Amino acid sequence: MGTIPWWQKTVVYQIYPRSFMDSNGDGIGDIQGIISKLDYLQDMGFETIWISPFFTSPQEDFGYDIAEYRSIASEYGNMDDFRELVREVHKRDMHLILDMVLNHTSKEHSWFKESRSSKNNPKRDWYIWKPGKKPPNNWKSMVFGRGWHFDSLTDEWYWAAFLPCQPDLNWRNSEVYNEMLSILKYWLNEGVDGFRLDIFGAIYEDPNFQNNPFSPHLFPNDVRGNGVFQSTEMTRNHPDNFQLAKKLRTFIDEQSQHHAWMVGEIFGGYAALREFCGREIPDGLHLAFMFQTVHAPFTAAAYRKLIIEAEQWFPEPYCPTWVFGNHDMNRRITRLRGDRDKAKLDFAYQMTVRGVPFIYNGEELGMTNGEIPTAQAQDGVTKHFKKYFPDWVVSLVNKQFNGAVNRDNCRTPMQWNPDENAGFCRTGINPWLPVNRSVQKNNVITEQEEKDSLLHCVKRFIKARRENEALKSGSLKLQPNIISSSQVLAYSRETESEEDVFLVLLNFSNKQQRIDLSPITTGRISVVVSTVLQKQKAAGFKLNRNKISLLPWEGCVLQYS
Ligand code: GLC
Ligand code: CA
Repeated sequence: MGTIPWWQKTVVYQIYPRSFMDSNGDGIGDIQGIISKLDYLQDMGFETIWISPFFTSPQEDFGYDIAEYRSIASEYGNMDDFRELVREVHKRDMHLILDMVLNHTSKEHSWFKESRSSKNNPKRDWYIWKPGKKPPNNWKSMVFGRGWHFDSLTDEWYWAAFLPCQPDLNWRNSEVYNEMLSILKYWLNEGVDGFRLDIFGAIYEDPNFQNNPFSPHLFPNDVRGNGVFQSTEMTRNHPDNFQLAKKLRTFIDEQSQHHAWMVGEIFGGYAALREFCGREIPDGLHLAFMFQTVHAPFTAAAYRKLIIEAEQWFPEPYCPTWVFGNHDMNRRITRLRGDRDKAKLDFAYQMTVRGVPFIYNGEELGMTNGEIPTAQAQDGVTKHFKKYFPDWVVSLVNKQFNGAVNRDNCRTPMQWNPDENAGFCRTGINPWLPVNRSVQKNNVITEQEEKDSLLHCVKRFIKARRENEALKSGSLKLQPNIISSSQVLAYSRETESEEDVFLVLLNFSNKQQRIDLSPITTGRISVVVSTVLQKQKAAGFKLNRNKISLLPWEGCVLQYS
């Protein structure tokens, strides 16, 4: 096997720029704020940062509605700040990936303004327009309601897969295609190391505009698709998108001499994710988010199943991804009901399975959801739902959809210290979203001081991963033969070149578990890292007689020869 590319071994940290760190006192995070926290990120061991969009935008969807792809929104800084960021990231041997919204622009983009101005405008065909008294077909948007919007300026309908303020680009127009690729090239030339591609499966729809078939489900899931009583065959993961993935792969590989990479935000089952990465050989997107993890119950059986599926669909040289949260859903620890021991175990899993971990800012502190009521939410999706339903219904739907309808709650300011504004912005000014009440206990400074904090645990596991090649890139084998309890998950990681094997033991129960390791080795065994601080202290020492007790909810890595 050839050498494993850097991005398969990296740890990705997602920054939501609006909420990360405010440097100039307007209550909104910015690029200089990010620069001021790079030392923290480096110290934690995060190697690659992905920043949600900071391009010029009317911020109706907080940056996912881009009005100019080659400039920075003024509240976040300017190109000089950006170039400084690239330099500072690279100086620390870290990498930077940008969030690219290829599917749609903002309504405020000059392209759309031109496009809608008249049917004869040269940019008319840059978007998807259809005539008629009625919408051209039954296609729904991903955020409830019809995806076609009537524009009385020219009496035609335009298509928007997401919010009405985000008209879809017409990628079947070669000018659009070329322009979007030249935007990617522009940012590669500015030194970025890759891209996260927003709703990648929505770029091409059925070219014949056939109706989406009926679905009996009111509440859809990621695998079925998002339409209410409607499947998404014609609007989501159309095969032309798989072709696009291949073309972009060739383009990005060429432009960056095989350095840069792409991860696609795709909603679909494993088969679709695999298609995006290349069915026969990995010649599509480098990675695709596996959101399956987000819906898995917190049990050994469910997490074991995730591994089996990941290994089945993404065997080497493909590479799985491990996503437990982002800026679109309930906070990771909130789904674990705030339980810090479980959160530690969750991280132990994420840092030791084969694949690339993605950590959303604040997860490493165990930041919980905010409590922003529907009535006050700033999220464009909440506002959209409120056009159709009263607040109480919107709140209910939000619950049902894992927080995807009021995303303010997972976007509250990063908690740097216990002060009034959590150190996110100066005291006396209003941050753009209110700081969580949890800030007193739950912030970087306090957790750095406390040895047994979640933050230190996360840091230990990242360190163990970075220091041991097997944990980064070794092959993975489930080890069912050593465990007597179905509540313990065991797997090993090893490389061909190294003698030692790494054994991961995860106790998904509130009971102590005795484990006899003699079936796999009678040789030397030592602790590498554990979620439990007392155990951690034994790191490096040899175990007594091949037996180990796992404490409740303990996750640990052992090394044996
Ligand atoms: C993606 C983004 C989300 C955004 C949407 C539309 O799902 O993660 O934040 O609102 O696409 O661009
Ligand atoms: Ca600011």
